[in-house]
Amino acid sequence: MNFCSDNVSGVSPEILSALTTANNGPAMPYGADEVTERVVAALRALFDAPAAEVVLMSTGSSANALALATMTPPFGAVYCHPESHVNVDECGAPEFYTGGAKLVPVEGQHAKMSVEALESAITGAGVVHHVQPAAVSVTQVTEAGTLYTLEELRAISDICKRHGLKLHMDGARFANAIETLECTPAACSHELGVDALSFGATKNGAMCAEAILFFDPALAQEAGYRRKRAGHLFSKMRFLSAQFDAYLTDDLWRRNARHANAMAARLAAGLGAIPDVEFASPVEANELFVRLPVPVIEGLLEAGFLFYRWEPEGTLIRMVTAFDTAAADVEAFIEAAQRLAG
Ligand SMILES: Cc1ncc(COP(=O)(O)O)c(C=O)c1O
Repeated sequence: MNFCSDNVSGVSPEILSALTTANNGPAMPYGADEVTERVVAALRALFDAPAAEVVLMSTGSSANALALATMTPPFGAVYCHPESHVNVDECGAPEFYTGGAKLVPVEGQHAKMSVEALESAITGAGVVHHVQPAAVSVTQVTEAGTLYTLEELRAISDICKRHGLKLHMDGARFANAIETLECTPAACSHELGVDALSFGATKNGAMCAEAILFFDPALAQEAGYRRKRAGHLFSKMRFLSAQFDAYLTDDLWRRNARHANAMAARLAAGLGAIPDVEFASPVEANELFVRLPVPVIEGLLEAGFLFYRWEPEGTLIRMVTAFDTAAADVEAFIEAAQRLAG
């Protein structure tokens, strides 16, 4: 009954079993093994991007920070939403990896940058006193559990092209986005002009595996050195690769995300039927930001349900569903909320 995060989940059995299989016998180190070769080919095929460079990482923060480091000089500006993970939840890793580039927050509803705000934030090009516009980072699924439509992403990408900026996508929950959007991975990334994607797996069933896909091969040239320098070139790379191998086999990544999204949709429908319940942002993937009366929140916590209170004493809570969220737990939560709300 733990709805705190998709990080509270364990590992998909298929991925755990792939790790055990990868443990049989020796394999060449630092990514020179067969599983890594297979995964790189599989990711290129999945994204219909034969020239993409694939760099495997173990955390989403390092993937984001490394991708951004290839896109900006130390005196560059990276535009992102104020609530974005790169801006608030990475302890300055993007600034650290980029050697000091500036993250410039760009407002917009439901954790999505508005194109107007982005357009007017991009200033200072050629002015020696100002950071130089270098990159834009969008999160898909956003930190508010919402999705950029493909049209919205296209508009952001057009701005990037007009100003000569690189476009990064934090896809920690990219699978959940694809499930809702029902488009191909290519359509939500390089076909829109995304230059580098942090393609997450950890939140969706892996133990610790993220991939950066560099669709712009020029960016990838220095990524290998930067990864090593950051201490993220795994000697036993096969264990990161094995996770992706299983993740991509038989569409596990899609099935896991489909289940998580379905559980969130069921929660949204059940809670939405209760008077006085409000959603702070639309439920479009596997995260819910819900306002419930404080006595209902306290009653749910007392009943043993776990979730984050998003305001210390307030009415806003965050719930996240995952590949292993039990339908019975979802029904129990809805029933308890209904009962407590009278
Ligand atoms: C939007 C987003 N990006 C990236 C990450 C990756 O974070 P971590 O470095 O904890 O793997 C997270 C995890 O919470 C996230 O929510």
